[in-house]
Amino acid sequence: MIVAIDGPAASGKGTLGKRLAAHYGFAHLDTGLLYRAVARALLDAGKSLEDENEAAIAARKLDLDALDEEKLRGAEMGSAASKVAAFPMVRAALVQLQRAFATKPEGAVIDGRDIGTIICPDADVKMFVTASAEERANRRFRELSSKGDIITYDEVLADIRARDERDTNRAVAPLRPAADARLLDTTEMDIDTAFRAAIAIVDAVGR
Ligand code: DC
Repeated sequence: MIVAIDGPAASGKGTLGKRLAAHYGFAHLDTGLLYRAVARALLDAGKSLEDENEAAIAARKLDLDALDEEKLRGAEMGSAASKVAAFPMVRAALVQLQRAFATKPEGAVIDGRDIGTIICPDADVKMFVTASAEERANRRFRELSSKGDIITYDEVLADIRARDERDTNRAVAPLRPAADARLLDTTEMDIDTAFRAAIAIVDAVGR
C-alpha cells in the first residue's frame, strides 16, 4: 500500500507520516530531506544555490541511506531546499529514487509536495495536509525556539509565506492537492486529533 501525503511547510505532514508509518508498519520517506540534502551538498562544496547543473549532479549522487536528518533540519536549510527544488533537473534526478521507495513490500508512506500528483499518482491513499500560515508559523516557532534557535515569530511567518509562494508558483511540480486527495486541515487540531483523522482516511480505503 502507498500512502501519499502532501502539504505546505510545517503543516504537520512529516509528523503524521512518521506516525502513520509506525502505526501500519510501513516504511517512511520524508522527501523534503532529499531537497534539503541537495542544498546542503551545494553549500558544503561552496557552490551557488542558483547553479542548476551542480544541483542536479548533487541530486544524482544522493544516497537515501546516508541522509543525516539532524544536519538537514532548520529554517535556513528549508528555504535553501525550496530554491533547488524549483530546478527541473533536480526534480528529474530524484524521481526514480522516490518511486523505488514506494514499491517497498511492507508498504510506504511518502510525504512531500508532489507525491500524489507526480511521484505516485496511483497511490492508494492521498492526503493533502494543511493549516493556516499563522498556525504553521506558531508550531515551527515553538519547535525552533525549544531547540535554542534565535528566531522571532515574524521571521518564521515570513519564511513560511515565502516558501509557500515559491513552492506553489514554480513551473514544475508545484505544490497543489491531487484531484483525488483527501483534505486534512489541522489548523484547529492538535497532533493526536490530526493523527486519528489521518488513520480514518487510510482505513476508509479498506485495509
Ligand atoms: O518538507 P520540507 O519543509 O522539509 O521541504 C523543504 C523544501 O523542499 C520545500 O520548501 C520544497 C521542497 N520540496 C519539494 O519541492 N518537493 C517535495 N516532494 C518535498 C520538498
